[in-house]
Amino acid sequence: GKEGGKGMDYVFKMVVIGDSAVGKSQLLSRFSKNEFSMESRATVGVEFQTKTILIDKKLVKAQIWDTAGQERYRSITSAYYRGALGAIIVYDITKLPSFEQVPRWLEDLRAYADPGIVVMLAGNKCDLHEMRSVPTEMGRELAEREGMLFLETSALDATNVEQAFLTVLEHIY
Ligand code: GTP
Ligand code: MG
Repeated sequence: GKEGGKGMDYVFKMVVIGDSAVGKSQLLSRFSKNEFSMESRATVGVEFQTKTILIDKKLVKAQIWDTAGQERYRSITSAYYRGALGAIIVYDITKLPSFEQVPRWLEDLRAYADPGIVVMLAGNKCDLHEMRSVPTEMGRELAEREGMLFLETSALDATNVEQAFLTVLEHIY
């Protein structure tokens, strides 16, 4: 349920999904701890972070789940998505294949997540603009067509990271 204990007004579960190496773990670590590492290791299994924020004078605890994007871990499904009220699908703006996989991640969401889930599409690594291979418009159009929110982000320089998570949480709320 949404109601949290211990003085918390709400607990919202969110999931972060997308191909390996697009920056899911670094986006989460930037949001929850304001930290970034170039030597981030591929996630094995599932990890999560929590962050408490104030929305409309209510204490909201975001419980954000981060999983491995690597193909061999794709069997983690229904348990991962259970109870999630928000999702961020991440691709890397310098890697077209990671964008081309977005429909597959959407399929997983539609198969396993609540139909009312709030979904943000995030084109990450926008600091690497000279290596861009996915135009902003392509991301925006896909998001519009599929009813997703859209932002380009950088876990490295923190562009739009708070906005991405907070926008999803505000839409849930
Ligand atoms: P899996 O756990 O395998 O699914 O990968 P992931 O999506 O969690 O990727 P991770 O966060 O581990 O980042 C992969 C690599 O990209 C690391 O070397 C990060 O430092 C780098 N990286 C992540 N975000 C950014 C970003 O916004 N800009 C740049 N330049 N590099 C980034
Ligand atoms: Mg990871």
